[in-house]
This record gives sequence, structure tokens and C-alpha cells, in this order.
Amino acid sequence: MTITEPLGFNPFDAGFRVDPYPVYRRLLAEDPVHKTPFGMVVLSRYGDCAAILRDPRSSSDASNSNMYKAFMAGRDPEEVFGALAGMRPFLFMDPPDHTRLRGLVQKAFTPKTVENLRSRIVELVDELMAPALERGSMEVIEDLAYPLPVRVITEMLGVPIEDHDTFKGWSRELAGALDPDFATPEAVAERRENAASAFVEYFQALIAERRKDPRDDLLSALITAEDEGHKLSEKELLSTLILLLVAGHETTVNLIANGVLAFVRHPDQLARLRSDPGLARTAVEEVLRFDPPVQFTARVALEDIDIGDAVLGRGDQAIVLVAAANRDPNQFERPDEFDVGRQENRHLAFGLGAHFCLGAPLARVEGQVALQAVAARLDDLSLAVEQPEYKENIVLRGLASLPVTFRPSGA
Ligand code: HEM
Repeated sequence: MTITEPLGFNPFDAGFRVDPYPVYRRLLAEDPVHKTPFGMVVLSRYGDCAAILRDPRSSSDASNSNMYKAFMAGRDPEEVFGALAGMRPFLFMDPPDHTRLRGLVQKAFTPKTVENLRSRIVELVDELMAPALERGSMEVIEDLAYPLPVRVITEMLGVPIEDHDTFKGWSRELAGALDPDFATPEAVAERRENAASAFVEYFQALIAERRKDPRDDLLSALITAEDEGHKLSEKELLSTLILLLVAGHETTVNLIANGVLAFVRHPDQLARLRSDPGLARTAVEEVLRFDPPVQFTARVALEDIDIGDAVLGRGDQAIVLVAAANRDPNQFERPDEFDVGRQENRHLAFGLGAHFCLGAPLARVEGQVALQAVAARLDDLSLAVEQPEYKENIVLRGLASLPVTFRPSGA
């Protein structure tokens, strides 16, 4: 038995990364509540995934798990996790801390606030696509899918885009930190710790600057919240800034790239969106269902929780395969079909419940503007390689590059 088999599948298999959906189909059909030998349960059914995400007895804090407690027995977290210790963002917290910290940034991400950014997003998409349109070829990740969300989140936060070369590598390292710990060789863990320390130093300097000279940005607003009435500590401020910057770098890129890939493979659906731009909203939801940027998340049971015929014991961890739930035939008609006009589409790509993705309204607008522009401006869209490659990340599964050729519309 290899160390990866207990999950019921091998997340490191190169074939799995390219197409995990046959594995999810098998789990759904044959083993929907898969028990591992070490007190972990892998869930794939929509109903089970949705129930555990909504359940107040499930915790997002992995330190509540029996496995973590056994691993940490008598050890000092600072020694084990270095700069990452004590820097857990609110994504991994439970109420009341989670509620307090999420509340502080929520206002910046409401659908109404984000809708005001739409015209800026249109402007950025125009600017980013112009050189590729002139060339007649595009590397979708480098030219559009990555720089768009990066420009938007740095502008929102007030982080200078000129510093991007400094922090883009740290962001990539921390995105990998979402993958299960048993998947992490020591050298990688060390790189992540260094990335976390470097981010902390970077933000400390920027915070000092903004404190002297506040601006109309999210960074200044959060500093004011820290200064007034101790609504958040310095560590909380830092972990929140890092969470938002990393989320802005590593998720929406996959929505846009997965969308373009789905369209290349389903030209009839691309033609539908081209002839009816009003489909952009449902098209983005369908990309999120069909090939979600976040493949799974995890929860720990704070009490025994019944799941179908099984019980998730107190302290046991559930792997919640949202990407499998999004293809559950009991929830979605024709689950393996990519249909940009799909109406009934309550996918779990953004999670559910208290931790439902804070950035969802922003990611949706970015996805809609980018995919609509691709449909409108690129004719005869095709892949420039046979099979594009995927990055090694497991939770944030995404393409490493996506070269395409096309003819500019009207040319
Ligand atoms: C298509 C793009 C995105 C996808 C698929 C996505 C997916 C998710 C998912 C599944 C969760 C819930 C995780 C869980 O419950 O364990 C989540 C949480 C979160 N996301 Fe996103 N996300 C995206 C974009 C963004 C963006 C652009 C931002 C902000 C810049 C963002 C910020 C957050 C934050 C702060 C949380 C934590 C919410 C909480 O714990 O209350 N996300 N995201």
C-alpha cells in the first residue's frame, strides 16, 4: 500500500490531475462515504458534502482533529510550523473569531460593491487582450487568466503592482499549503515557511507606510480596524491580508482558464455564448460546476455526525470532494454535460454555509467579463498543444499553461 491509497484514489497520479472525473464517478457510484484507515472519511455525494459544510458541528480548524492532536503531542507549534504557526487565516477558524474577522472584510466583497468594479474589469480585460489580439495567439494563463485577478485584488487591497515580482512566488508556495500535510515533502514545507515569513515582513513594511499615509483602499481600512478598538490583532491583520492576496492570485485564474479549455473542447457551447452574451452568467456557473478551481475542502467533526449509514466520529476529518458533488447525478441532470444555459445549478464550487467563498461575487464578475470577451473576440479558437499541463497542486487544481490559437473576430 502506498501512502496515497488510503484516500480511495491517488491524488498525485498525473492522469488524475488531467482528468479526475472518472475517479469521482467511481467514488459516487461505489464508495460515496469512503473510510480511510486513519479516521478520515472521503465524501463525494452532493447531499453529504452540502450537509457537512452547513453543519455547525463541523469545524474548519484542523487542530481539532484527532490526527493533528496525535501528530502534535508534546510538540511546539512554532517549531513544527515556523512562521505559519499562529498565522491561520479565518478560512480555518470557527465562530466567534471567524464571524468577527469575516465581518471586517465582507463589505468590500458584496455583490453591489463588486458590481461597481465591473467597468474597471472590462477596461483591464481590454488592455490585457490587446497584444494577444494583435499577435493572433495567446497563452491564456499568462496573458489574461492570471494577470486579471492579480491586478484587481492588488488594486482593491492597495498593494503596489510593481511589487508583484517580489510576492508572486510566495503566493504560489502558500497556495500549495492547502494540500494535505501528508503530501508535503520537508523541503516544500520549508519553502512555505519562508514564503510566510517573507509575506509577513513585506506587509509589515506596507502597513507602516499606510499607517503614516492612509489611502482609499482595503489595506488602510483594515489598519484602521486594527487601530480602533482592537477588532483585530496584528497577527489577524497580517493573516487576513495574506489570505485575500493569495486567494486573489490562485483561484480565479483557474476559473478563467478552465472556462477557456471547456469552450475549446465544446465549440457548440462557445458559439451559444457568442451569439447570446446574456448567457455569460449561467456559463460561468457551469464552468464552476463542471471543472471547479477548488477540488475539495475539509472539516473536522466536533461531535459524532451521522452521514448516511456511517458516523463521522468526534475528531475525525471529512474530505469534502466538491468537484465530485458537482457531478452527482442525483443533484444534476446530465452531470457530465457542459451546458452554458443550465438553469438548475446549485454547485458547491464556492463551498456552502458560514465559509461560503467571500470572493465569489468578484470571481463571478471577472469570469463573466473575461469569458464573454473570449467568446466575442476570438474566432476558430483551438488548442496550440495536444494536452495542456497541470500544476502540481491538489486542492487548487489548475493548468500550468494554456496556449491557444485563433483568428481575431471580424479579421
Ligand atoms: C473562482 C474563484 C474562486 C473559487 C472557486 C473559490 C472557492 C472557495 C471555496 C470553496 C471556499 C470555501 C472553503 C471552505 O469552506 O473550506 C472559499 C473561501 C474563501 N474565499 Fe474563495 N474562491 C474563489 C475566489 C476568491 C477570491 C477572488 C477571493 C478574494 C480575493 C476569495 C476569498 C475567499 C475567502 C476570504 C474565503 C474564506 C471565507 C470564510 O472562511 O469565511 N475567493 N473560496
